[in-house]
Parts: sequence; C-alpha cells; structure tokens
Amino acid sequence: MPIEKNELRRVMGHFATGVTVITTCDETGKPFGLTVNAITSVSLVPPLILICVDKKADTYPYFDRSKVFAVNILSEEQETISRRFATSGIEKFDGIGYRKSESGCAILDDAVGHIDCRVLQSYDAGDHTIYVGEVLGAGAEDVPPLLFFRGGYRKLAP
Ligand SMILES: Cc1cc2nc3c(=O)[nH]c(=O)nc-3n(C[C@H](O)[C@H](O)[C@H](O)COP(=O)(O)O)c2cc1C
Repeated sequence: MPIEKNELRRVMGHFATGVTVITTCDETGKPFGLTVNAITSVSLVPPLILICVDKKADTYPYFDRSKVFAVNILSEEQETISRRFATSGIEKFDGIGYRKSESGCAILDDAVGHIDCRVLQSYDAGDHTIYVGEVLGAGAEDVPPLLFFRGGYRKLAP
C-alpha cells in the first residue's frame, strides 16, 4: 500500500532544504516562475542539475514549452519573494527587480546565486515532470540562504 500523500509530505519535510525560485519565459520574453525546493545537482562533467515541476502549476506549460530555465537560490531576506512565487494567479514579477540571463530567464536581484540552464532531458514522474538542465552559467555570493524545514521557513543559526 503506497504511503498517503500528506504523510509523505510530512516525512519529506524533515529533510531540510534551501528555497529557490525557478524562472522561464514565453516566446515574447515574458517571465514566469514558481517557488521550488525539489532541485538537486546531478552531474559535474557534463554540468547537469534537475528540477521537479508540478503538472498542475499554472506555470508548468511555460516550463514545458520553453526548454530553458534558471534557478534563483533565495537569501534569508527573501521569504516574502518565496511566498509570492508560491502563490498562483498573481502577477508575480510586479515590482520585482531582475535581469535576463543568457538563456533569457529572469535572474532575481539580491539572490544568493543563480544557475542558468537549457533543458537536456525531461522525464514523466507521477504528478511532476523532472527537467534535467545543462548548466550554461552560474554564480553565487556569500549571503545567508533561506531554508525550509518541516513546513516552515528557517534561517541558519548565527
Ligand atoms: C518551500 C516550497 C517549495 C516548493 N517546491 C515545489 C517544487 O519543488 N515543485 C513544484 O512544482 N512546486 C513546489 N512548490 C509549490 C509551488 O511554489 C506552488 O504550487 C505555486 O503556487 C505554483 O505557482 P503557479 O501555479 O503560478 O505555477 C513549493 C512551494 C514552497 C513554499
């Protein structure tokens, strides 16, 4: 008997993660994004990472079509941005500072770091799709990250 979904969420919530906003764009260059913690490093040579996107997310079709994405690693000052990009049906980029990456995706101001990717492979995985991205460019600063643990936002101990 498979585990019930809320119980799986509760158990996985014990695995502490960082918090990211992943972004992509449509054919006109309009940015789209959502808050994601299902991201991992996959390979160093060649440089690959993966993200998992819920097929029910409003932004899912844009990720599926564009074949590019960028990961923004949020700082501990960016909890409001995390909450905003985890809310469907709003203009998420209104008043948000960002620049465009080489792939055309939004790189948010004041994030800890970013990873710009083109989609190499995608895999159907239950209610999510796994996108494996080849890293085109990346950077990070020495800034404290935002953390997520047991359903709540946390900060590193000082
Ligand atoms: C900390 C955190 C982590 C999340 N991780 C993921 C994730 O890995 N994949 C995903 O598809 N949604 C994830 N979500 C949920 C989406 O951010 C949320 O469903 C969002 O509303 C989707 O926006 P959209 O409907 O505008 O696309 C996460 C939310 C939070 C708060």
